[in-house]
Amino acid sequence: MGVQMILGIGIDIIEVARIAASLEKFGHRFGERILSKDEIAYCLGHRNPPPFVAARFAAKEAISKAFGTGIGAQLGWQDMEIAHRESGEPYVILHGKGKKLFESRRGKNIFVSISHTEQYAAVAAVLEG
Ligand SMILES: CC(C)(COP(=O)(O)OP(=O)(O)OC[C@H]1O[C@@H](n2cnc3c(N)ncnc32)[C@H](O)[C@@H]1OP(=O)(O)O)[C@@H](O)C(=O)NCCC(=O)NCCS
Repeated sequence: MGVQMILGIGIDIIEVARIAASLEKFGHRFGERILSKDEIAYCLGHRNPPPFVAARFAAKEAISKAFGTGIGAQLGWQDMEIAHRESGEPYVILHGKGKKLFESRRGKNIFVSISHTEQYAAVAAVLEG
């Protein structure tokens, strides 16, 4: 058993209107580029999906900041997924390049905390290793 330490933190805030505009302009293609199937189903399960979509967008940006990579060649939108425990607490599932990056950093866990209103979505992420 080794010592756990914080390898990085990230925070992001998103204007819901910006996401709503992209959803209007690009339709389902925007959602499908950013979100997994389960994330889309989760967002569409709420009466007003845009704040939930914005929250997942912010979560992925915050996680990319915790890694220090940003979103791009090393870590893409589809490499990160937000899921929920029965309590509603969110957790992160990594895929593909995200998983590789996490392993190369000797990551142990990623914590995310999500909050949103009609106007803004904000997420903090902590990378522990
Ligand atoms: C969990 C709780 C703090 C969320 O806060 P909120 O102000 O309602 O809403 P926020 O927008 O700030 O947070 C929502 C996010 O919290 C996260 N969340 C939900 N349950 C959680 C839990 N048990 N632990 C950690 N995070 C949780 C989710 O990620 C959710 O966003 P998502 O569904 O888009 O993923 C809230 O539901 C709660 O328990 N409040 C206590 C008071 C209460 O019960 N009020 C209602 C009584 S009528």
